[in-house]
Amino acid sequence: MTRSSEGLTPELHAYIVDHSEPVDEVLADLAEETARLFPDYRGMQIGPEQGAFTTLLTRVCGARDVVEVGTFTGYSSICFARGLPADGRLLALDVSDEWTSVARRYWERAGVAGKITLRLGPALESLRALPPEPQFDLAFVDADKEGYVGYWEELVPRIRRGGLILADNTLSHGRVVDTADTSPVVRGIRDFNDRLVADERVEQVLLPVGDGLTLARRH
Ligand SMILES: C[S@@+](CC[C@H](N)C(=O)[O-])C[C@H]1O[C@@H](n2cnc3c(N)ncnc32)[C@H](O)[C@@H]1O
Repeated sequence: MTRSSEGLTPELHAYIVDHSEPVDEVLADLAEETARLFPDYRGMQIGPEQGAFTTLLTRVCGARDVVEVGTFTGYSSICFARGLPADGRLLALDVSDEWTSVARRYWERAGVAGKITLRLGPALESLRALPPEPQFDLAFVDADKEGYVGYWEELVPRIRRGGLILADNTLSHGRVVDTADTSPVVRGIRDFNDRLVADERVEQVLLPVGDGLTLARRH
């Protein structure tokens, strides 16, 4: 796998991957098949060290109910589902039947299909259709970057006290600090990062993992 972490040399990234929980055959095959079927989109998957981190984090925080905004071909959902207890549940939100049909096959192969419910459609609508009260221990945001602030506003009230929200790509490949870059994607991420800093409902840290991984905890 070549997906790297922002600012790291490929050699250092490979070293980190080699000294983290190994990628098993299911995830390796999923990464390979995704690259073969959708070569222009392979970079959308979280990286192997992020996968190891999310499985461990899910386990450490004892999450039972997780929601994922942006599932693609299923790499991150498998990592979250593996960290859940046997009766844990993951609600996976995405718009693409084509991409998530690959995810469904790999959920079966990974033995986690029974824990995952897929809801197809715009994630903002899917989130708004959920009961408004706290019901999740952990949320992961990894869909369209322009939508992050909207997802955040729907997710925070639905996260239990002490629960976590993770968001990927919060460094936008370093473009967040390029003031000349005013593209919608980068503005979406900047707005999201600024929103969190001002949000007294959470404490948060932006980790230089992958393309920037923000971890927030609801007070
Ligand atoms: C970066 S990929 C997710 C990668 C995935 N987390 C993984 O590790 O493999 C972004 C996904 O968000 C989905 N997406 C984009 N806009 C969306 C929307 N408005 N509602 C729901 N899903 C959306 C895309 O279909 C795509 O599968």
